[in-house]
Amino acid sequence: MNARGDSQTLQKPPDRPDTETLGRFLSVEPALKTSLDARLAQTEMRLRDCVRTAPAPRITALTSHLAVTGGKRLRPLMVLLSSEFGEPGREGITRAAVVAELVHLASLYHDDVLDHATTRHGVPSANALWGEKTAVRGGNWLLARSVRLSADLGEQAVGCALRATSRLVDGQLRELLGPSPGEDPVDHYFKVAEGKTGALISMSVAIGALQAAAPQPYVEALRAYGEQLGLAFQISDDILDLTVPGDTTGKQQGKDLLGAVDSLPVLLARADTSADGAELRTLLSSGPFTGPAAHLRALELFQDSPALEQAASYMQGRLTAAKKALTCLPSLPARRILYALCDYIACRNF
Ligand code: FPP
Ligand code: MG
Repeated sequence: MNARGDSQTLQKPPDRPDTETLGRFLSVEPALKTSLDARLAQTEMRLRDCVRTAPAPRITALTSHLAVTGGKRLRPLMVLLSSEFGEPGREGITRAAVVAELVHLASLYHDDVLDHATTRHGVPSANALWGEKTAVRGGNWLLARSVRLSADLGEQAVGCALRATSRLVDGQLRELLGPSPGEDPVDHYFKVAEGKTGALISMSVAIGALQAAAPQPYVEALRAYGEQLGLAFQISDDILDLTVPGDTTGKQQGKDLLGAVDSLPVLLARADTSADGAELRTLLSSGPFTGPAAHLRALELFQDSPALEQAASYMQGRLTAAKKALTCLPSLPARRILYALCDYIACRNF
């Protein structure tokens, strides 16, 4: 692929937003799945149109890069599902789904720069192809596009999208600055995750319900569900980083270790005072991994470390809270899918 992303020489887009992954969980409600599949396809078209509205093909190659190379489209799905608790045919719901995905994509461009990630979705990251400065501008472009698109949503929905975006940035800043003096690292982790992941998933379910004019108590229940599901999702990501081979996820196994990211299992392994945990503790405290041997050894030690189980139990706690939030909602097919999504997060291995 041309390192500058010249549209003439870009390979045919892999065309693989991974909607199948989540699609399987929709199967618990076949009739709703059929209607959601159609609405997701419509969202996908709108999203692709949107990321291709840049004024020149070379810019379009940059702004459409991550949208066309992958993604589970979890956030658009959440928007569409939550609209079921109001009037799902109302105008603006697809638009809200695109807004949620655009903010997410924008954050990934920035995140890959911060992490010096060379790949995303199993293909070169935007920063690997265009360089960091251009990738950041690509992210900014998408963020600006999301704001432009959200301008026609209702006032509450616009506020909801903007608040989530600022919480997302707050979460990232907290992560970059690290815990305040005396702050418990696990408490800090959760504040970061609430911003980085909880905010946008929670916004997605809230905005879908708002656009569908769902009753306010439903909006609040969905918002609470989204916060908890987002945290569980982040913890499951942390666990998968350590446990799943890179060829399955499109990310290198143990990428968080290489980037010295204080993921939840890493924090818990550091706090493990047992004699068995000593070697891992030492490896984790001796700074970023410089050679493959220490990295491999740490990955090996993690497989038997109680830290992974403890992280899984935190995740379960969040999933239980997410399911509890759903009890305030009417027993619709969409609610059963939202339950099923909790189970997907608990058992996903990709
Ligand atoms: C993935 O984190 C990244 C995020 C969930 C959000 C990152 C947010 C920013 C960079 C703030 C800027 C935001 C905007 C809207 C411009 P990860 O590194 O834990 O996950 P990964 O393994 O998928 O990279
Ligand atoms: Mg990252």
